[in-house]
Amino acid sequence: MQITNADIAHVGPGTPGGDWLRRYWHAVGTTKELFDIPQAVRVLGEDLVLFRDLTGKLGLLGQACAHRGASLEYGDIEERGIRCPYHGWLYDGSGKCLEQPSEPKDGQFCHKVRQVSYPVHEQGGLIFAYMGPNPDTPPRFPNYSALVDHGGQRLMEDTRHLDYSWFNFYENSADPAHVWILHGASGYGQQTWGDRFFSVDDPPAFEAVDTPYGMKIVMTKPGPEPGTEVVDEMSLGLPSILQVGDTPYVHARVDPKLGVNAGSDYEHLLLLTPNDDDHFMLFTVDYYTGPEPDMFERLADMRKRELPTQEVKPYDKRPLMPFRGNVRREDIVAQGTQDLVGYRTEHLGPSDRGVIMIRKMVREAIQAVAEGKAPKGLHLEENAEGYVTLDSFVGVRSMGQSS
Ligand code: FES
Ligand SMILES: [Fe+2]
Repeated sequence: MQITNADIAHVGPGTPGGDWLRRYWHAVGTTKELFDIPQAVRVLGEDLVLFRDLTGKLGLLGQACAHRGASLEYGDIEERGIRCPYHGWLYDGSGKCLEQPSEPKDGQFCHKVRQVSYPVHEQGGLIFAYMGPNPDTPPRFPNYSALVDHGGQRLMEDTRHLDYSWFNFYENSADPAHVWILHGASGYGQQTWGDRFFSVDDPPAFEAVDTPYGMKIVMTKPGPEPGTEVVDEMSLGLPSILQVGDTPYVHARVDPKLGVNAGSDYEHLLLLTPNDDDHFMLFTVDYYTGPEPDMFERLADMRKRELPTQEVKPYDKRPLMPFRGNVRREDIVAQGTQDLVGYRTEHLGPSDRGVIMIRKMVREAIQAVAEGKAPKGLHLEENAEGYVTLDSFVGVRSMGQSS
């Protein structure tokens, strides 16, 4: 089977891209946003319901009840699981049917029924699911550094919901050449360190580098001493994870020297989970190990002030206006108006080399799964402290340490 870019765009069950994505754990919710009611969530084209039973155990079940398809989103949460509102069938978190109030008490019918269910795992304020083969022996959960407590502070944003292909967002992170154009007048343009680093008049050089977990983009400028360089790197971990280290420097630090000598003490981790081909959820976790106690308050203040600055003319009815002046909205305008990867007409140049690399990597991973092999990034090594690190160094280092 020849895997093409169009295969990357499809996430549903039975598609090559969907089969590939199903080999990894995916974030499906956050601890802070899951309350004492069932939460409907669409993941990889499947309608599911996430809940926590009264003993605190999590469950992720198919949304449509196995009996006659009423939605468990309106079910009642009990000690042992969730009860369908229609005829009261009770399921535990593993999908086992425990009660059928209107069926003969001594029957075997209950044991014959199984509600769709997927294993879940809670880590660092996020709830993950594994929807692949062999659900009784899922792959080892990769303990990403930002999700493991190791002496820092963690910030969990509310889940964002976006209505375009997850891959448009993902591959954009392999494309630094957009930063000084699309974002040239926004968060990076207010005399922060990032403003100078990403200057349109003097943009950094960049390299796309293969790593065990996926790839990274390494941007560099000459450093303060001979033989040194200022480095800003960001990582794309397969299948759908991003990590950036420069968040406080582009948003919250005015002195360009500040922080940049300290190296990276900040991980901005983004986990993308496709709902379907045209929608995805974005889970954002920041982990800070630096000395400032109020880093997240200052960051929140800065973000609040980064509103679009663009004037909208009275006859301008374009739906995404205004967008210039806010990095996140600028990204939505660019990524959200692209068609699915593999379905657009494109003309790629040398500055698209990161995008070319991540697409090839994903096609090869899809191919590996189609051939029954483990895809890249599935088994990641933990460091001595027991967690998985993705590179997102920001600072000054000796030349040549980047790859
Ligand atoms: S549809 Fe759920 S119990 Fe009948
Ligand atoms: Fe961007």
